[in-house]
Amino acid sequence: MQRYPDGMTTTAPPFQLRPGRPDDALPILEAQRSAIRQTAASAYSPAIIDEWAPAVIVRERVESFQRWIERGEESIVVAMEPAGQIIGFGSIVPANSELRAVYVAAAYGGQGVGRALLARLEELARDAGLAELRMDASINAVRFYEANGFISLERGEHVMHSGGSMACVRMRKALLL
Ligand SMILES: CC(C)(COP(=O)(O)OP(=O)(O)OC[C@H]1O[C@@H](n2cnc3c(N)ncnc32)[C@H](O)[C@@H]1OP(=O)(O)O)[C@@H](O)C(=O)NCCC(=O)NCCS
Repeated sequence: MQRYPDGMTTTAPPFQLRPGRPDDALPILEAQRSAIRQTAASAYSPAIIDEWAPAVIVRERVESFQRWIERGEESIVVAMEPAGQIIGFGSIVPANSELRAVYVAAAYGGQGVGRALLARLEELARDAGLAELRMDASINAVRFYEANGFISLERGEHVMHSGGSMACVRMRKALLL
């Protein structure tokens, strides 16, 4: 808690942001699994949820994600609670002006973590000289992105990491440079 001279108080955010690293692969996938299997579950069939975020995170998936992070094509930001546990993450692929996604572990939803991640990712995109971000938003998250300045373009089908597809809404946000 911080106290200001006029008597106002404010609580420091209970999380910090930092760039994602290869050794974050497992906790990132765990936060994503929680976000999908709990927060997003009501928007899709159980089969899609299982394909999007399998209940068991296998070693091969962690290792291939680690190698992907090492390549550096995707800029990842993670949110950590005070004890250092990763509670959410988001990423952009600057070469495609793409916002990949934002995910917040279910227990930490609705506390501003997603908004903070998105703001940091937009800063990174601006620093990379991007004029806009485009994305395939999951149906459950459309209102979150709209609340943060994205506009819906059209409905579509998003191809998942597994190769299957899921309904999405294509969205875009112009970035003020
Ligand atoms: C979408 C998601 C990242 C939002 O994260 P969050 O930390 O809960 O969001 P925040 O608390 O920062 O909310 C920011 C704003 O969006 C709004 N918002 C968040 N989720 C919302 C939802 N499902 N419906 C409507 N509004 C929503 C909040 O009201 C808030 O607005 P306010 O500050 O004016 O009240 C999170 O719900 C999630 O991980 N969902 C499941 C995974 C997913 O589908 N990710 C997107 C893949 S494209």
